[in-house]
Amino acid sequence: MADISAARGAALAQIEAADSLESIAALDTQLLGKKGSIAQLKTKLGGLATVDEKKAAGQAVNEAMQAVSSALAARRVELGTAATAARVEAERLDLTEFAVKPERGHAHLVTQSWERLEDVFIGLGFQVAEGPEVETDWHNFEALNMPIGHPARGEWDTLFLDHAAPGEDVGRTVLRTHTSPVQIRTMLSGMPPIYIVAPGRVFRRDTPDATHMPVFHQIEGLVVDRDITMADLAGTIEAFTKAFFGADFSSRLRPSYFPFTEPSAEFDIQRPDGSWLELGGCGMVHPNVLRHGGIDPEEWSGFAFGFGIDRMAVMRHDVADIRDMFVNDIRFAEQF
Ligand code: FA5
Repeated sequence: MADISAARGAALAQIEAADSLESIAALDTQLLGKKGSIAQLKTKLGGLATVDEKKAAGQAVNEAMQAVSSALAARRVELGTAATAARVEAERLDLTEFAVKPERGHAHLVTQSWERLEDVFIGLGFQVAEGPEVETDWHNFEALNMPIGHPARGEWDTLFLDHAAPGEDVGRTVLRTHTSPVQIRTMLSGMPPIYIVAPGRVFRRDTPDATHMPVFHQIEGLVVDRDITMADLAGTIEAFTKAFFGADFSSRLRPSYFPFTEPSAEFDIQRPDGSWLELGGCGMVHPNVLRHGGIDPEEWSGFAFGFGIDRMAVMRHDVADIRDMFVNDIRFAEQF
């Protein structure tokens, strides 16, 4: 009986000390298996002298086995719960955590104005067109009613490329000096009615100063349809002015001259304080330009306009010097 009690005590102590589900599984075999320490005691029962002793000892062995068995089960549950808790803790997703987001930049001031201009004109029913920055002399000048030697070419300090198209002489390829060649390309690519705006980069041999850059941006507008008049041009400019700058701004046309429009005008906008500011050029498309675009001026008429996007950005945001927009000082750029 002392052996049984000792074996039972030792087994229970081992179970208590077990610290993993693996060691519990091992103890199960070791203690309760056929060759287990307690089962082994059963084999000794036969050696006892009396039936009563055998009975009492047999009962004690069974009780010991049961006690060991329930202790194993209880410890298994205990360790299982602890293991699950540890896993849950290890895999816990902390949804309250704040990740530090990377700082977001924003579009350049000119891009912002460019996109806003597109939005406003799309709202007025225009489509967006584009053309190449490297142009032929024909698209940039000749088709716009400025043949070689025409004095008006002097208005645009042109950058010529050292390139000749097959069969042509060097000096007939330019960095476009304005977005007006897109007028010709658009007319040649389809029939009226045409309602387009063409924003883009242009190049002139201008020395940078507070209002000039050698590389800057323009937006061209072209409308060709039946019975288009100067009144349509003035109305479009006025609608655009109010949509882009605000209802308290208004516009006016001032007589001017461009070889590709007749009559021609500069258009100015009036700010709420009453002051006027020149925005760009415009006019009725010259019949020669329509003809170069493959359009019969007897049947169709149209208007065109073009103005500087950079100057509009400067005005909208009260920037003192146009060059500030292109030195890329982060302290400047961050403000917009
Ligand atoms: C033209 O370029 C004409 N193609 C505009 C036009 C289109 C007239 C269609 C009629 C019909 P001008 O050279 O004036 O015109 O330039 C137009 C605008 O571009 C100017 O009013 C100004 O806002 C802007 N601009 C001109 N040169 C510079 C420069 N160096 N830097 C920044 N903006 C400039």
